[in-house]
Amino acid sequence: MNTAALIESLKDGARSVSDQIEVKIIRLYDLDYKGCMSCLACKVKGSKFTEVCAYKDGLSDALREAAYADGLVFASPIYFSQVTAQMRAFIERLIFPWLSYSKMAVTAPKRIPTAVIYTMNAWGQFVENMKPFFDHFESLIAMGLEKPERIEAQNTLQVKQYDRYEMAAFSVEDKQRWHEEQWPQDLRRAYDVGAQMAKRILADDHQ
Ligand SMILES: Cc1cc2nc3c(=O)[nH]c(=O)nc-3n(C[C@H](O)[C@H](O)[C@H](O)COP(=O)(O)O)c2cc1C
Repeated sequence: MNTAALIESLKDGARSVSDQIEVKIIRLYDLDYKGCMSCLACKVKGSKFTEVCAYKDGLSDALREAAYADGLVFASPIYFSQVTAQMRAFIERLIFPWLSYSKMAVTAPKRIPTAVIYTMNAWGQFVENMKPFFDHFESLIAMGLEKPERIEAQNTLQVKQYDRYEMAAFSVEDKQRWHEEQWPQDLRRAYDVGAQMAKRILADDHQ
């Protein structure tokens, strides 16, 4: 719900720059795939799988598109202080083929601009406590691609009608107030990052 809304806003921002910008949204939960199983086909001498993971499953097309895209945005709700298992599995399959055990270096097909989107129930100090996990996730991306812009939405509305759920620990009034005051700014930040990425991508095209 929240994560998808931020992605849509980022997409609108990117498309506002130019009709030449094509944005493809891939919903990992719709795909049937596994994380890296250490088959090491990408490490065989002379391997042709050093850009895109050799293993064929429901993620293969997405991996190929991500590897050759001009920009990449990784969006995930925060589950137990980290990105989702699906996002971790995607990252394993995307980045491990780029890691050379000969040079101990990560080389992506293209070093492209990136962004991350996190949405989470927590706010304030709880979020501060999770920041090392966010930093680590972004450091994985920055090994092969550009350091990501971070977009984060805290204190999200987890459901639309709180009175239908056992969620008495939350103040619905506080959540609503935050939603009215902060959420539009979060959407705006996503929009702005999308526009900024699009401009960078177009500028690189013209160099
Ligand atoms: C399994 C699970 C674990 C969660 N763990 C956390 C957490 O550790 N920290 C947090 O702030 N929110 C946590 N949340 C809340 C979600 O991150 C938050 O509601 C998010 O905005 C959901 O994104 P969505 O609206 O796009 O589905 C968790 C939610 C679920 C379902």
